[in-house]
Amino acid sequence: MRHFINIKDIPSKDLRKILSDAKKRKKLRKNLNNLEVDKNPPLRGKLLIQMFEKSSLRTRLSFYLAIKQLGGSTLTLRPDELHLSKGAESIEDTAKILSNFGNAFMLRTDDDKKLEEFKKYLSIPIINGLSPTSHPTQILSDIFTIEEIKKKPISKLKISWIGDSNNVLNSLIAASIKFSFELKVGSPKKYLPNRKILNYIKGNKNKISFYVDPKKAAKDVDVIFSDKVISMNDRVNKKKKLSHFKKFRIDEKLMSFAKKDCIFLHCLPRGKEVDEKVFLSKKSKVWQQALNRVHVQKSILLYCFGKLR
Ligand code: CP
Ligand code: NVA
Repeated sequence: MRHFINIKDIPSKDLRKILSDAKKRKKLRKNLNNLEVDKNPPLRGKLLIQMFEKSSLRTRLSFYLAIKQLGGSTLTLRPDELHLSKGAESIEDTAKILSNFGNAFMLRTDDDKKLEEFKKYLSIPIINGLSPTSHPTQILSDIFTIEEIKKKPISKLKISWIGDSNNVLNSLIAASIKFSFELKVGSPKKYLPNRKILNYIKGNKNKISFYVDPKKAAKDVDVIFSDKVISMNDRVNKKKKLSHFKKFRIDEKLMSFAKKDCIFLHCLPRGKEVDEKVFLSKKSKVWQQALNRVHVQKSILLYCFGKLR
């Protein structure tokens, strides 16, 4: 049994194994409908319990289909209906009950400490479905999408992130170190990653560079990523922050600094950080990106269950 909490804590060879498994599985079910199960479903009879402390559309749907296609089922708990959220039951007791009734727990949380607390008391795997500091299932799936489209290992590509230093970027930084790819980050100076992340980068062999000029961050890259300027956990003066990012909007002009065949990715939901023309252009692969989460999360589940082939 293994947990899936942060990319930085998972060995590169395991991350690569998850991606190759996802590629094989996706190919094998080309002609199947969403709810049809894979041949010889490896998680028959298993229950994935999900809980979202913050809004979710894609993560919720993709984990639902992922476990179904592997032969299992899912149950989504509403935190406001649990004793835990009212302070009337501990994480320890909640975790023990989850472990007795379910086979894996997927948590989207507003507090990273809760992932560690649950992990301490669970005897089933826990998967991080987004926390204030990371979004590992999203980024692993995005690596899959990039390699699927570009038909090359990501280590041979140049990736750019233009936007806020948030949970998704933190996971992208960890992925850049694990998969050894070039990452150019463009953010206003005030919004570059915090000291903890910078120290993590410094402590590892990396190909990560930072720019306060978005054009430089976009120059000659194969992929441009963006995300909302205001994340769900952001308690900031929104108007002020949005105004600081004005120059960082992804429009056709900014895309023109990248390679001709550069693609645009965004985990969604979107705000005004990307121009409609780019978002709806052929270069934008956001729908394929969202759907691929099903395939990669299936292999993440199998990794957690120790069932990766
Ligand atoms: N990208 C993503 O995680 O979407 P949701 O917040 O809708 O799950
Ligand atoms: N950075 C965004 C990602 C949403 C999927 C947030 O945390 O709100």
